[in-house]
Amino acid sequence: MTEVRPAAVLVLAAGQGKRMKSATPKVLHAMCGRTLLGHVLAAIEPLQADRTLIVLGHERPQVENFLADAAPTAEVVVQEEQQGTGHAARLALEFAQDLTGTVLVMHGDTPLFTTETLTAVLARHAEARADATMLTAVMPDPSNYGRVTRDADGHVTGIVEDRDATDAQKQIAEICTGVYAFDAATVRDVLERIASDNAQQEEYLTDAIGLLVREGKVVASVVAADWRETLGVNDRAQLADARRHMRDRIVAHWMREGATITDPQTTWMGVRVRLEPDVTIHQNTQLHGATLIRSGATVGPDCTLRDTEVGNGATVTKSMCEGVVIGADATVGPFSYLRPGTRLGDRGKVGAFVETKKADIGDGSKVPHLTYVGDATIGADANIGAGTVFVNYDGVDKHHTTIGDAAFVGSGSMLVGPREIGPGAYVAAGSAITEDVPAGAIGIGRSRQRNVLGWVFRRRAGTKSADAARRAGAGGTMEGSSPPGTDEK
Ligand code: UD1
Ligand code: CA
Repeated sequence: MTEVRPAAVLVLAAGQGKRMKSATPKVLHAMCGRTLLGHVLAAIEPLQADRTLIVLGHERPQVENFLADAAPTAEVVVQEEQQGTGHAARLALEFAQDLTGTVLVMHGDTPLFTTETLTAVLARHAEARADATMLTAVMPDPSNYGRVTRDADGHVTGIVEDRDATDAQKQIAEICTGVYAFDAATVRDVLERIASDNAQQEEYLTDAIGLLVREGKVVASVVAADWRETLGVNDRAQLADARRHMRDRIVAHWMREGATITDPQTTWMGVRVRLEPDVTIHQNTQLHGATLIRSGATVGPDCTLRDTEVGNGATVTKSMCEGVVIGADATVGPFSYLRPGTRLGDRGKVGAFVETKKADIGDGSKVPHLTYVGDATIGADANIGAGTVFVNYDGVDKHHTTIGDAAFVGSGSMLVGPREIGPGAYVAAGSAITEDVPAGAIGIGRSRQRNVLGWVFRRRAGTKSADAARRAGAGGTMEGSSPPGTDEK
């Protein structure tokens, strides 16, 4: 096996990305849970280069801020004015004056390269004992890329930028991907001699290839096995394209790992998502962050999950969950909104039009319909009736409510926190609970009902209601028909 560990990787990321028309630097735009630059860093990390050099310029503080977390050992090279890719590479090689050996150069806006492809370039470079090796690709639509020119024998003669290309050259489908392996000393030397007599008045790194060929150096090339890896992102349409390719790659990976994904085209996943074997993901589902779906679980259709764990055999349908842990065999949805700090126990249920936040819901407990559960601890096997509201906010502070095991909260109750409903306690439907309910008691927090007989005949005479009541045989057309204690007011 050829030794391919590079002395350095150089990433060019100083450009503004004018075509993005964005306040955010291009390389910090995100796709599938990582920035463009983050994807590049992830691909180069396993190469174990001695040094990582990153050229920054436009919006440098923002990008540096990102790098402080993402690649703390990377060395930043400053390019104050963006005078081209050749200028950027030249500054980096001047910065790293003592660098010798192989330097892998790539752009910060090509997020789809795999480590395998970069390794193939380094391997070819070593085998060919080349001064420079470039990665090319044959594109279905090569427009706007630099085109690779070759002589009659097929040897590379140079790269011509799209804007400088003749109509005949524009027909060439083989493009420059922006990935190169160089001998550091050789490229440092040649970059000193690059002119900027081109359409953009810039120093093109691509010109280094033609110069090296003319100077009789050994220039090798590798054609990418999959052109999709080489897509560059210059505008938002290309960003969407790249995102789609990354999505395809992630989804295909998890299908190979044993997940059933019924509609790959409408399933979106970030790079940190994990699926265990035998999960099923239905259409229009988005899994973000560090989401984990355990074996036998079903998610979708129409779910958005972020940083959420779905337990073995659980089901989540048409719902949104963020920062949530869902137990084994639990069910969520349809139309549930589970917010950060929600934990649903094994076999638990959160049903339609239920919102939860900082809610620990015990094993086997059910919150089936139309409920808000905020700042709550619910024991095991409790039942929370339809339309219950955990009244957690008094306008200033949040308050916690605890519900004991196997407690039963009747429908339409307001549990005014901070409150404790004991194990096995009941709450009568329609209660406003402002005092704790001890274990085994029933709390009834509402006024007694009274019926005023004949009210409709007096106050709604001549209406459909009065007719219906009369047909039902109700009396009371006359005054004074109410029994004692049911006075009309
Ligand atoms: C470049 C190549 C083109 C190739 C394509 C592949 C050149 C001249 N052209 O074109 O042949 O097909 O990439 O995606 O190299 N940058 C700097 N400093 C600068 C200018 C650019 O750091 O002064 C960085 C940018 O931030 C970017 C990368 O270099 O990450 C490429 O620059 P960009 O302007 O996107 O070049 P392309 O037009 O895509
Ligand atoms: Ca580009």
